[in-house]
Order: sequence, then C-alpha cells, then structure tokens
Amino acid sequence: MRLLWMLLPLMLSGQEDFISHYEYGEMLYANPRGVSCAQCHGESGEGQTIVEFRDIHGKQALKGSDIRRDTIDDMIKALNTYHKIMPRYYLTDEEVKAIYDYLQKKNEAYLSTFKETNTTQ
Ligand code: HEC
Repeated sequence: MRLLWMLLPLMLSGQEDFISHYEYGEMLYANPRGVSCAQCHGESGEGQTIVEFRDIHGKQALKGSDIRRDTIDDMIKALNTYHKIMPRYYLTDEEVKAIYDYLQKKNEAYLSTFKETNTTQ
C-alpha cells in the first residue's frame, strides 16, 4: 500500500491526459494517505458529525468543521500542524492545492452566494 502511494505521482505524471486536476483533487480528498477528509469534513467539505457519545455532561458530539470557505493558506497551515483529532498527513503544497481547487469547484454554487453578497455591500 505504501509503495503504491510512492509510485502514484509517477503513475499520474505518465497519464496526465487521463486524470484532470479536479479528479486528482477528488481522489486526494477521498483517500489521502488512507484516511478520508470526507469522513470528518463531509462529502463536499461542509462539515459533519464524526461521532456522538454520552459522558457525565450528557450527550456530546464530535464534529468536523466546515472547510468550504477556508483559503488555500488556511488549508496549508491546517494540514501542516498537529491537531487533537485530525491526523497529520504530510501532503505536499501541491496536493493540498489540488484538494483546495477540488473543493472550490465542487462548491462553486455555494461559494458564489457569498461573492454576490460581498459585491452588494
Ligand atoms: C478524524 C477526523 C478528521 C479528518 C480525517 C480530517 N480532518 Fe480536518 N479537521 C478535523 C477537526 C476536528 C478539525 C478542527 C480542529 C481540530 O480540533 O482538530 C479540523 C480542521 C481542519 C482545517 C482547519 C479549519 C478549522 O476548522 O480549523 C482544515 C483546512 C482541514 N481540517 C482540512 C482537512 C483536510 C483537507 C483533510 C484531508 C486531507 C482533513 N481535514 C481530514 C477533523 C478531521
């Protein structure tokens, strides 16, 4: 499995015509280093509940945040630091950019509602 990931950039560079930047980002978001971003941040980065449990304070929920409006800088920073819940991935800036571009494209309609709001202010 590890070997496959090491060979992947070679396989991809040899097949540039067959996989688009969008598909590359989609693939990375779905399965970066074996733990999917979607598991915690939802299918499109909208965020979701990871797990619900009960403790002495009652019902608790652990949530993955909405990352759709994060900038590329936010994303690179978040992926290069250690978190309590989120794993450390060691993705290259190029890989993070592919994920970022994928989410931007996938959420184009949602994100454009904010851009329109801004221009009317
Ligand atoms: C195990 C669950 C989990 C996975 C998997 C995960 N994240 Fe996160 N992520 C979180 C949580 C929870 C936070 C909020 C900070 C914290 O407490 O870790 C976070 C924070 C972030 C942030 C910073 C924005 C914020 O809310 O602070 C970004 C950007 C982000 N994640 C992107 C990603 C990407 C891209 C992937 C896949 C490469 C990923 N995450 C995988 C749980 C996860």
